[in-house]
Amino acid sequence: MEFEVKDISLAEWGRKEIQLAEHEMPGLMSLRKRYGTTKPLKGARITGSLHMTVQTAVLIETLQDLGADIRWASCNIYSTQDQAAAAVAKGREEGTSRGGVPVFAWSGETIEEYWDLLYKAFCFYEGKGPNLIVDDGGDATLLLHRGYELEHGDNWVYLESKNEEERCIRNVLKKIHAEDAGFWTRVVESLRGISEETTTGVLRLRLREEQNTLLVPAINVNDSVTKSKFDNLYGCRESIVDAIRRATDITLSGKTAVVCGYGNVGKGVAQAFRGCYTRVLVTEIDPICALQAAMEGYEVCKMEKALSIGDIFVTTTGNYHVINEQHMRQMRNQAIVCNIGHFDNEIDIASLERASDITKQNIKPLVDLYSFETEGHSILLLAGGRLVNLGCATGHPSFIMSISFTNQVLAQMTLWQETHKPQMYLLDKRIDEEVATLHLAALGAEIDSITSEQGEYIAVNVAGPFKHEQYRY
Ligand SMILES: NC(=O)c1ccc[n+]([C@@H]2O[C@H](COP(=O)([O-])OP(=O)(O)OC[C@H]3O[C@@H](n4cnc5c(N)ncnc54)[C@H](O)[C@@H]3O)[C@@H](O)[C@H]2O)c1
Repeated sequence: MEFEVKDISLAEWGRKEIQLAEHEMPGLMSLRKRYGTTKPLKGARITGSLHMTVQTAVLIETLQDLGADIRWASCNIYSTQDQAAAAVAKGREEGTSRGGVPVFAWSGETIEEYWDLLYKAFCFYEGKGPNLIVDDGGDATLLLHRGYELEHGDNWVYLESKNEEERCIRNVLKKIHAEDAGFWTRVVESLRGISEETTTGVLRLRLREEQNTLLVPAINVNDSVTKSKFDNLYGCRESIVDAIRRATDITLSGKTAVVCGYGNVGKGVAQAFRGCYTRVLVTEIDPICALQAAMEGYEVCKMEKALSIGDIFVTTTGNYHVINEQHMRQMRNQAIVCNIGHFDNEIDIASLERASDITKQNIKPLVDLYSFETEGHSILLLAGGRLVNLGCATGHPSFIMSISFTNQVLAQMTLWQETHKPQMYLLDKRIDEEVATLHLAALGAEIDSITSEQGEYIAVNVAGPFKHEQYRY
């Protein structure tokens, strides 16, 4: 079995954690029960680029039970749980359809290794690529599109790189091109679609769709209600405080937290701090989200004002350089700075690294103290500015991920079973309602039904969907 993990001997530990997680993932387990014998994904080759955690292991093995042939990489250099990667690589029953899955991920990859491992997740047997991609943040989609464009005369790979990440992407694409100049064209020909997990990946897909450069169909899983209104909000509500506590051990009660951005993630993060008796300040650029925050009783203010007040800063925007070097120069001594948005460039760490009067001291893995000689203070940066809940903790808990990943499996089945045009799609509202239904019983929740008379009165079918397409939940 081909795989690249940190330590395969961690598999036994990983397996025990996966079994615990299965109990908390009723949506995925019910899909295994429903489709385990008919195997609707039989024949499908799937490449995954999504945090290689215990919960993702349950997703991978569900896709496997539905008949798929899978290769997997992580979508972040820090987020792999090595025991989960080992258990998936080892498999449940050697030599059967429940055998090991090729996993290419470990915690603490270099950026160069990251892009190399992602490419390996694309390489099936006999030069073949995947039929389907599960993407989180759009890196697999990016590699595919840039690779295809290179094979069709585009010169992006020969341009100057603005940063280390771009340099590594260009290098891996050049290497692949030298080895097999038709690889990406073959991949595109056999690809039936991509399902994208997160807001940032959807933004990148939308740009491609607008520019008419999207090569394959893509399902926007993020904007299923049971994804963005659950994982992004309730998931981050669970995992942000976990990460800050594991990294710093500070008392949150009485402190002041500044939440930058009040979208779905920001709402969850703000609620989490409030639940810890932390004073919460919110910064926003969108008047609607700002008004929502104000109506929830949070203080909404400009970043400039928050800088001298905050003890903890969390970026949740998916935007670029939301906290910059000048901001960090104005913060209080020992302020904690972290990001829960998809990419690390929400905080301008590169400037800290370049500045001659700033020194960095590592306190423990993924906790660094930056000292500013000019201002005479220090700040604590968590997870190197990358997703703090997956770097300093273990991401969202299983039940939340079951809701997200049930959508992912149903999206993969839709792409495999139906033919789509190269554009973006949302999953049907019926699927959204079904995903919710699959998780109600586990929480002891029961719902009422309506009579046909009531259905007529509010203009909905008695079996659903229960809301019109524009309803915002
Ligand atoms: N860490 C995780 O587990 C996790 C989970 C889900 C999503 N995400 C990621 O988190 C990010 C946010 O996702 P979301 O679904 O909340 O997106 P969203 O679009 O709902 O919210 C982002 C908010 O940030 C605001 N914003 C943008 N620029 C800003 C600025 N300079 N200052 C203040 N506010 C600003 C926007 O107006 C918006 O309200 C994305 O990168 C997404 O991929 C992470």
